[in-house]
Amino acid sequence: MKVVMFGGNGLLGSDIIKVCAGEHEVISLGSADVNITDPESVYNLIKAHKPEAVINSAAMTDVDKCELNPDMAYRINAMGPKNIAIACRDFNARMIHISTDYVFDGKKDSPYDEFEQVNPVNVYGKSKVAGEQFVQMCTERFMIIRTAWIFGTRRKHFVDYVIDAINKGEEVIAVKDMVSSPTYSLDLAELIKEILPLNQAGIFHGVNKGYCSRVQMVEAIMKIMKKQTRVQVLSQSQWKKPAARPVFSALKNYHLQLLDKDSMPGWRDALKRYIRFKYVA
Ligand SMILES: NC(=O)c1ccc[n+]([C@@H]2O[C@H](COP(=O)([O-])OP(=O)(O)OC[C@H]3O[C@@H](n4cnc5c(N)ncnc54)[C@H](OP(=O)(O)O)[C@@H]3O)[C@@H](O)[C@H]2O)c1
Repeated sequence: MKVVMFGGNGLLGSDIIKVCAGEHEVISLGSADVNITDPESVYNLIKAHKPEAVINSAAMTDVDKCELNPDMAYRINAMGPKNIAIACRDFNARMIHISTDYVFDGKKDSPYDEFEQVNPVNVYGKSKVAGEQFVQMCTERFMIIRTAWIFGTRRKHFVDYVIDAINKGEEVIAVKDMVSSPTYSLDLAELIKEILPLNQAGIFHGVNKGYCSRVQMVEAIMKIMKKQTRVQVLSQSQWKKPAARPVFSALKNYHLQLLDKDSMPGWRDALKRYIRFKYVA
Protein backbone atom coordinates (compact mmCIF):
# COMPACT_ATOMS: atom_id res chain seq x y z
CA MET A 1 0.00 0.00 0.00
CA LYS A 2 1.33 3.47 -0.85
CA VAL A 3 1.21 5.66 2.25
CA VAL A 4 2.12 9.31 2.81
CA MET A 5 3.18 10.01 6.39
CA PHE A 6 3.18 13.48 7.97
CA GLY A 7 5.22 13.74 11.17
CA GLY A 8 7.66 10.99 10.16
CA ASN A 9 10.44 12.41 12.37
CA GLY A 10 8.33 12.30 15.53
CA LEU A 11 8.16 9.86 18.44
CA LEU A 12 5.29 7.84 16.97
CA GLY A 13 5.84 8.64 13.28
CA SER A 14 9.41 7.28 13.27
CA ASP A 15 8.22 3.92 14.68
CA ILE A 16 5.33 3.71 12.20
CA ILE A 17 7.91 4.05 9.41
CA LYS A 18 10.13 1.42 11.04
CA VAL A 19 7.40 -1.23 11.38
CA CYS A 20 5.79 -0.52 8.00
CA ALA A 21 9.07 -0.78 6.05
CA GLY A 22 8.95 -3.80 3.78
CA GLU A 23 5.18 -4.13 4.04
CA HIS A 24 4.05 -0.75 2.73
CA GLU A 25 5.65 1.94 0.56
CA VAL A 26 5.79 4.84 3.03
CA ILE A 27 6.74 8.36 1.96
CA SER A 28 7.87 10.01 5.18
CA LEU A 29 7.66 13.78 5.56
CA GLY A 30 9.01 16.11 8.21
CA SER A 31 8.30 19.79 8.71
CA ALA A 32 11.24 20.69 6.44
CA ASP A 33 9.54 18.80 3.58
CA VAL A 34 6.06 20.22 4.03
CA ASN A 35 4.37 22.55 6.47
CA ILE A 36 0.93 21.05 7.15
CA THR A 37 -0.45 24.54 7.88
CA ASP A 38 0.06 25.44 4.19
CA PRO A 39 -3.02 24.14 2.34
CA GLU A 40 -1.54 24.42 -1.15
CA SER A 41 1.66 22.51 -0.32
CA VAL A 42 -0.33 19.73 1.35
CA TYR A 43 -2.77 19.54 -1.56
CA ASN A 44 -0.06 19.45 -4.24
CA LEU A 45 1.90 16.84 -2.37
CA ILE A 46 -1.02 14.43 -2.04
CA LYS A 47 -1.98 15.16 -5.66
CA ALA A 48 1.56 14.29 -6.79
CA HIS A 49 1.89 11.04 -4.80
CA LYS A 50 -1.73 9.80 -5.03
CA PRO A 51 -1.34 7.52 -1.95
CA GLU A 52 -3.96 4.96 -0.92
CA ALA A 53 -3.61 6.14 2.70
CA VAL A 54 -2.28 9.19 4.52
CA ILE A 55 -1.17 9.09 8.17
CA ASN A 56 -1.02 12.35 10.10
CA SER A 57 1.20 12.07 13.18
CA ALA A 58 2.41 15.69 12.87
CA ALA A 59 1.26 17.93 15.70
CA MET A 60 2.27 20.58 18.20
CA THR A 61 2.60 18.27 21.19
CA ASP A 62 4.10 20.54 23.87
CA VAL A 63 1.04 21.12 26.03
CA ASP A 64 2.40 24.21 27.83
CA LYS A 65 3.69 25.76 24.60
CA CYS A 66 0.19 25.32 23.12
CA GLU A 67 -1.30 27.12 26.13
CA LEU A 68 1.05 30.07 25.60
CA ASN A 69 0.74 30.07 21.76
CA PRO A 70 -2.88 29.23 20.96
CA ASP A 71 -2.74 30.53 17.37
CA MET A 72 0.16 28.24 16.57
CA ALA A 73 -1.59 25.32 18.31
CA TYR A 74 -4.79 25.79 16.27
CA ARG A 75 -2.79 26.27 13.05
CA ILE A 76 -0.89 23.00 13.47
CA ASN A 77 -3.38 20.81 15.38
CA ALA A 78 -6.63 21.96 13.75
CA MET A 79 -5.93 23.66 10.39
CA GLY A 80 -3.16 21.14 9.56
CA PRO A 81 -5.43 18.05 9.70
CA LYS A 82 -8.13 20.02 7.86
CA ASN A 83 -5.73 20.68 4.97
CA ILE A 84 -4.77 17.00 4.88
CA ALA A 85 -8.40 15.80 5.08
CA ILE A 86 -9.49 18.01 2.15
CA ALA A 87 -6.68 16.65 -0.03
CA CYS A 88 -7.46 13.05 1.06
CA ARG A 89 -11.09 13.55 0.07
CA ASP A 90 -10.21 14.98 -3.35
CA PHE A 91 -7.64 12.28 -4.18
CA ASN A 92 -9.53 9.38 -2.62
CA ALA A 93 -6.98 8.51 0.06
CA ARG A 94 -7.93 7.06 3.43
CA MET A 95 -6.84 9.34 6.31
CA ILE A 96 -5.45 8.01 9.59
CA HIS A 97 -5.22 10.89 12.03
CA ILE A 98 -3.59 10.66 15.48
CA SER A 99 -5.29 12.36 18.42
CA THR A 100 -5.08 12.38 22.19
CA ASP A 101 -6.56 11.44 25.56
CA TYR A 102 -6.46 15.19 26.36
CA VAL A 103 -9.74 15.64 24.43
CA PHE A 104 -11.42 14.53 27.71
CA ASP A 105 -11.87 16.60 30.88
CA GLY A 106 -10.62 13.84 33.19
CA LYS A 107 -13.50 14.00 35.65
CA LYS A 108 -14.22 10.24 35.46
CA ASP A 109 -12.52 7.49 37.41
CA SER A 110 -12.67 4.72 34.82
CA PRO A 111 -11.17 4.62 31.30
CA TYR A 112 -12.89 6.60 28.54
CA ASP A 113 -14.25 4.81 25.49
CA GLU A 114 -14.82 6.26 22.01
CA PHE A 115 -18.53 6.89 22.59
CA GLU A 116 -18.04 9.41 25.40
CA GLN A 117 -18.26 13.19 25.16
CA VAL A 118 -15.09 15.22 24.68
CA ASN A 119 -14.57 18.30 26.86
CA PRO A 120 -10.94 19.47 26.77
CA VAL A 121 -9.45 21.48 29.64
CA ASN A 122 -6.52 23.12 27.83
CA VAL A 123 -5.60 24.71 24.48
CA TYR A 124 -3.75 21.60 23.28
CA GLY A 125 -6.87 19.47 23.89
CA LYS A 126 -9.18 22.07 22.33
CA SER A 127 -7.01 22.36 19.22
CA LYS A 128 -6.89 18.54 18.90
CA VAL A 129 -10.70 18.33 19.21
CA ALA A 130 -10.97 20.95 16.45
CA GLY A 131 -8.59 18.81 14.34
CA GLU A 132 -10.75 15.71 14.91
CA GLN A 133 -13.88 17.66 13.95
CA PHE A 134 -12.33 18.99 10.73
CA VAL A 135 -11.23 15.48 9.73
CA GLN A 136 -14.76 14.13 10.26
CA MET A 137 -16.27 17.09 8.41
CA CYS A 138 -13.94 17.08 5.40
CA THR A 139 -13.60 13.40 4.52
CA GLU A 140 -15.67 10.26 4.95
CA ARG A 141 -12.80 7.80 4.79
CA PHE A 142 -11.07 8.49 8.09
CA MET A 143 -9.80 6.71 11.16
CA ILE A 144 -8.96 8.88 14.16
CA ILE A 145 -6.68 7.07 16.62
CA ARG A 146 -6.49 8.61 20.08
CA THR A 147 -3.52 7.64 22.18
CA ALA A 148 -1.84 8.75 25.43
CA TRP A 149 1.48 9.24 27.30
CA ILE A 150 3.72 7.95 24.49
CA PHE A 151 7.23 6.68 25.19
CA GLY A 152 9.68 5.52 22.52
CA THR A 153 13.20 5.93 21.23
CA ARG A 154 13.04 8.97 18.92
CA ARG A 155 13.04 11.81 21.44
CA LYS A 156 13.14 12.39 25.19
CA HIS A 157 9.95 12.05 27.26
CA PHE A 158 8.85 11.38 30.85
CA VAL A 159 10.35 7.86 31.09
CA ASP A 160 13.77 9.13 29.94
CA TYR A 161 13.58 12.05 32.37
CA VAL A 162 12.97 9.63 35.24
CA ILE A 163 15.76 7.25 34.16
CA ASP A 164 18.25 10.12 33.74
CA ALA A 165 17.42 11.28 37.27
CA ILE A 166 17.72 7.74 38.69
CA ASN A 167 21.13 7.27 37.03
CA LYS A 168 22.39 10.63 38.35
CA GLY A 169 20.91 10.10 41.82
CA GLU A 170 18.73 13.19 41.38
CA GLU A 171 15.22 13.81 42.66
CA VAL A 172 12.23 13.07 40.43
CA ILE A 173 9.05 15.16 40.45
CA ALA A 174 5.93 13.01 40.04
CA VAL A 175 2.41 14.45 39.87
CA LYS A 176 -0.17 12.37 41.71
CA ASP A 177 -3.34 13.77 40.11
CA MET A 178 -2.42 12.88 36.53
CA VAL A 179 -3.57 9.41 35.52
CA SER A 180 -3.54 7.92 32.03
CA SER A 181 -2.49 4.98 29.85
CA PRO A 182 1.27 4.90 29.13
CA THR A 183 1.79 3.71 25.55
CA TYR A 184 4.88 2.38 23.75
CA SER A 185 5.17 3.99 20.31
CA LEU A 186 6.38 0.67 18.87
CA ASP A 187 3.24 -1.19 20.06
CA LEU A 188 0.99 1.53 18.68
CA ALA A 189 2.91 1.54 15.38
CA GLU A 190 2.36 -2.26 15.10
CA LEU A 191 -1.34 -1.75 15.78
CA ILE A 192 -1.55 0.95 13.10
CA LYS A 193 0.20 -1.35 10.61
CA GLU A 194 -2.38 -4.10 11.36
CA ILE A 195 -5.43 -1.87 11.02
CA LEU A 196 -4.16 0.11 8.01
CA PRO A 197 -5.48 -2.37 5.40
CA LEU A 198 -8.88 -2.76 7.15
CA ASN A 199 -11.82 -1.05 5.54
CA GLN A 200 -12.73 0.68 8.81
CA ALA A 201 -13.82 4.17 9.81
CA GLY A 202 -14.46 6.17 12.95
CA ILE A 203 -12.73 7.04 16.19
CA PHE A 204 -10.51 4.43 17.86
CA HIS A 205 -8.61 4.47 21.13
CA GLY A 206 -5.14 2.93 20.80
CA VAL A 207 -3.24 2.57 24.09
CA ASN A 208 -1.39 -0.11 26.02
CA LYS A 209 -3.81 -1.79 28.44
CA GLY A 210 -4.27 -0.44 31.95
CA TYR A 211 -3.46 2.90 33.53
CA CYS A 212 -1.47 4.56 36.30
CA SER A 213 -0.62 7.90 37.88
CA ARG A 214 2.74 9.55 37.24
CA VAL A 215 3.74 8.43 40.76
CA GLN A 216 2.91 4.79 39.99
CA MET A 217 4.78 5.10 36.69
CA VAL A 218 7.92 6.32 38.49
CA GLU A 219 7.63 3.39 40.93
CA ALA A 220 7.32 0.95 38.01
CA ILE A 221 10.40 2.46 36.28
CA MET A 222 12.47 2.20 39.48
CA LYS A 223 11.40 -1.44 39.90
CA ILE A 224 12.45 -2.33 36.34
CA MET A 225 15.75 -0.40 36.72
CA LYS A 226 16.31 -2.04 40.14
CA LYS A 227 17.45 1.39 41.36
CA GLN A 228 15.79 3.98 43.59
CA THR A 229 15.89 7.74 43.75
CA ARG A 230 14.09 10.36 45.83
CA VAL A 231 10.58 11.16 44.54
CA GLN A 232 8.90 14.47 45.25
CA VAL A 233 5.15 13.88 44.94
CA LEU A 234 3.23 16.99 43.90
CA SER A 235 -0.34 17.83 42.97
CA GLN A 236 -1.00 19.69 39.73
CA SER A 237 -1.67 22.88 41.73
CA GLN A 238 1.80 22.61 43.35
CA TRP A 239 3.46 21.75 40.00
CA LYS A 240 2.41 25.15 38.55
CA LYS A 241 2.46 24.62 34.78
CA PRO A 242 0.82 27.00 32.28
CA ALA A 243 -1.65 24.32 31.09
CA ALA A 244 -4.01 22.29 33.27
CA ARG A 245 -4.01 18.56 32.55
CA PRO A 246 -7.03 16.25 32.83
CA VAL A 247 -6.81 14.42 36.16
CA PHE A 248 -7.91 11.03 34.78
CA SER A 249 -7.63 10.52 31.02
CA ALA A 250 -6.98 6.78 30.72
CA LEU A 251 -8.44 5.26 27.57
CA LYS A 252 -10.08 1.94 26.77
CA ASN A 253 -9.65 0.44 23.26
CA TYR A 254 -13.36 -0.33 23.14
CA HIS A 255 -13.93 0.13 19.39
CA LEU A 256 -11.02 -2.22 18.63
CA GLN A 257 -12.37 -4.70 21.20
CA LEU A 258 -15.76 -4.69 19.48
CA LEU A 259 -13.95 -5.67 16.25
CA ASP A 260 -11.78 -8.29 18.04
CA LYS A 261 -8.70 -6.28 16.98
CA ASP A 262 -7.32 -5.11 20.33
CA SER A 263 -3.91 -6.73 20.40
CA MET A 264 -2.28 -4.10 22.64
CA PRO A 265 -0.17 -5.49 25.52
CA GLY A 266 -0.31 -4.05 29.07
CA TRP A 267 1.62 -0.87 29.89
CA ARG A 268 3.94 -2.54 32.44
CA ASP A 269 5.04 -5.12 29.88
CA ALA A 270 5.53 -2.35 27.28
CA LEU A 271 7.57 -0.25 29.71
CA LYS A 272 9.79 -3.23 30.56
CA ARG A 273 10.46 -3.94 26.87
CA TYR A 274 11.28 -0.28 26.17
CA ILE A 275 13.67 0.06 29.13
CA ARG A 276 15.39 -3.25 28.38
CA PHE A 277 15.79 -2.27 24.72
CA LYS A 278 17.10 1.24 25.35
CA TYR A 279 18.90 1.05 28.70
CA VAL A 280 19.70 -2.50 29.72
CA ALA A 281 20.24 -4.14 26.30
N1 LIG B 1 3.60 12.32 22.89
C1 LIG B 1 2.54 11.96 23.59
O1 LIG B 1 2.63 11.60 24.79
C2 LIG B 1 1.17 11.96 22.94
C3 LIG B 1 0.05 11.64 23.75
C4 LIG B 1 -1.21 11.60 23.16
C5 LIG B 1 -1.36 11.87 21.81
N2 LIG B 1 -0.26 12.21 21.06
C6 LIG B 1 -0.48 12.50 19.64
O2 LIG B 1 0.27 11.57 18.89
C7 LIG B 1 0.74 12.20 17.69
C8 LIG B 1 2.24 12.00 17.59
O3 LIG B 1 2.87 12.57 18.74
P1 LIG B 1 4.45 12.52 18.92
O4 LIG B 1 4.72 12.58 20.38
O5 LIG B 1 5.01 11.42 18.08
O6 LIG B 1 4.85 13.91 18.30
P2 LIG B 1 6.30 14.58 18.19
O7 LIG B 1 7.37 13.63 18.58
O8 LIG B 1 6.21 15.89 18.90
O9 LIG B 1 6.39 14.79 16.63
C9 LIG B 1 5.51 15.62 15.97
C10 LIG B 1 6.05 15.88 14.59
O10 LIG B 1 5.21 16.86 14.00
C11 LIG B 1 5.96 17.54 13.05
N3 LIG B 1 5.40 18.86 12.84
C12 LIG B 1 5.15 19.80 13.78
N4 LIG B 1 4.65 20.91 13.20
C13 LIG B 1 4.57 20.65 11.88
C14 LIG B 1 4.13 21.40 10.74
N5 LIG B 1 3.66 22.64 10.86
N6 LIG B 1 4.19 20.81 9.52
C15 LIG B 1 4.67 19.56 9.37
N7 LIG B 1 5.10 18.80 10.40
C16 LIG B 1 5.05 19.34 11.64
C17 LIG B 1 7.39 17.61 13.58
O11 LIG B 1 8.23 17.45 12.46
P3 LIG B 1 9.85 17.76 12.45
O12 LIG B 1 10.43 16.92 13.55
O13 LIG B 1 10.24 17.30 11.08
O14 LIG B 1 10.00 19.23 12.70
C18 LIG B 1 7.47 16.46 14.59
O15 LIG B 1 8.39 15.45 14.22
C19 LIG B 1 0.27 13.65 17.77
O16 LIG B 1 -0.92 13.78 17.05
C20 LIG B 1 0.00 13.87 19.24
O17 LIG B 1 -0.98 14.86 19.43
C21 LIG B 1 0.99 12.24 21.59
